[in-house]
Amino acid sequence: MRATRPFLVLVQSVSFVLAWSVDPASTAAGGQRQSTKALDGITLDQRKLFRDGKDEFEQAETAAQGLGPIFNAISCAACHSTPTVGGSRALNETRAARIADGSYFELPGGSLFQSDAISPNCRESVPASANVIAQRQTTPLFGVGLIEAIPDAQVEAYAAEQGAAHPQQAGRVHYVVDVASGATRVGRFGWKAQQATLLAFSGDAYLNEMGITNRLFPVENAPNGDLSKLAACDSVNDPEDTGNDIDGFTDFMRFLGPPPRDHETAEIRRGRQLFESVGCAVCHRGGFTTVSPFPAITGQTVDAFSDFLLHDVGTGDGIIQGDARGNEFRTPPLWGISESAPYLHDGSAATITQAIGRHRLQGAAALTAFQDLSESDKQALLAFLASI
Ligand code: HEC
Ligand code: HEC
Repeated sequence: MRATRPFLVLVQSVSFVLAWSVDPASTAAGGQRQSTKALDGITLDQRKLFRDGKDEFEQAETAAQGLGPIFNAISCAACHSTPTVGGSRALNETRAARIADGSYFELPGGSLFQSDAISPNCRESVPASANVIAQRQTTPLFGVGLIEAIPDAQVEAYAAEQGAAHPQQAGRVHYVVDVASGATRVGRFGWKAQQATLLAFSGDAYLNEMGITNRLFPVENAPNGDLSKLAACDSVNDPEDTGNDIDGFTDFMRFLGPPPRDHETAEIRRGRQLFESVGCAVCHRGGFTTVSPFPAITGQTVDAFSDFLLHDVGTGDGIIQGDARGNEFRTPPLWGISESAPYLHDGSAATITQAIGRHRLQGAAALTAFQDLSESDKQALLAFLASI
């Protein structure tokens, strides 16, 4: 919803990860590469949808407009901000759950813990009974419209191919019910591939990150599941998204261009071959092709370098989301990673090299092959990663 008066200033208590250092791959290009640019070839009408959607995405919301009662930030762009609007952010949010007698229990109020509230009386806190506590950082959104347009069948076919050719690395499709269409779809967005479409993710994020109920997610989050706290703090009728902002967010993200690609040098070309030969590309796969009613989106090759499947590379956070298990994560796309430090779901790897070094189990063979490369071959592989 559009602000008609200055927004409330709310104290943010989300933790910032102060974790960078110099990595050859993050500095190779020098200066900022990414811009908040629409996809090439869109129509004038689509360009207007993109611009209006970007305004909504950047719009700070107020309590009077439905923000909260519990929330993580006051606009989408507050988190999707680095190096520019639509990007990521080295800011973690907290998920928690309880495991007792070998069973997993969702805590009252759900696994996501909102860090802020419109009033101190309705704050949420991680209860003492939580014994699984996880951190998640913001994923970047450049090119997500192309990812959305990869047909389910291509991901399913690749899962079968991967399982047959590389049984040690076999990933799983995360099937999810898309709340926007009611259909069972191949999940692809979020650290656990927990959503299949940008509209569903928009509705989910508007509720769970900002506390704004909408037509897809009409039920407010009660702080720690406490309905009396909710009643005391929430005075805006649901759904609060009366202007269909979730459609605006979707337009912005759908038409947001992918990360820029550097000109291919001999070293980058060699790095790409090494990326394939050591086995990174088994999971970090390029080459899906989009199918879409939008001419600017259809027929594009998506070199995001992800299979959009769930894998166990030994970094699991213990949180179950839909059918995704505690030990699984979606292979994250690698395009744009020169500007999305720190790395891994919790931002615990400061550099790309550290992130590679954390691959175990299904990622162990690729890590060993990477470590066995000569220094100049490692540099070539990192130069390839910096170029995508
Ligand atoms: C408090 C920070 C925060 C805010 C505010 C926020 N996001 Fe996010 N966003 C995240 C995090 C963290 C993730 C990864 C979540 C996960 O999978 O656990 C994410 C992931 C996403 C993704 C998935 C991208 C991918 O490829 O996996 C989309 C789409 C998205 N956000 C859209 C939005 C929209 C639209 C809004 C505004 C309604 C929004 N976000 C507000 C932090 C935020
Ligand atoms: C078995 C599948 C698999 C293989 C093989 C694999 N990865 Fe990954 N990779 C993953 C998964 C899953 C994650 C997410 C782990 C997490 O966040 O905890 C990941 C994370 C990463 C990240 C961090 C990305 C980010 O945005 O945080 C980088 C960089 C990376 N991989 C590079 C590589 C390279 C280079 C290779 C080859 C040496 C490789 N991976 C091999 C599945 C794989």
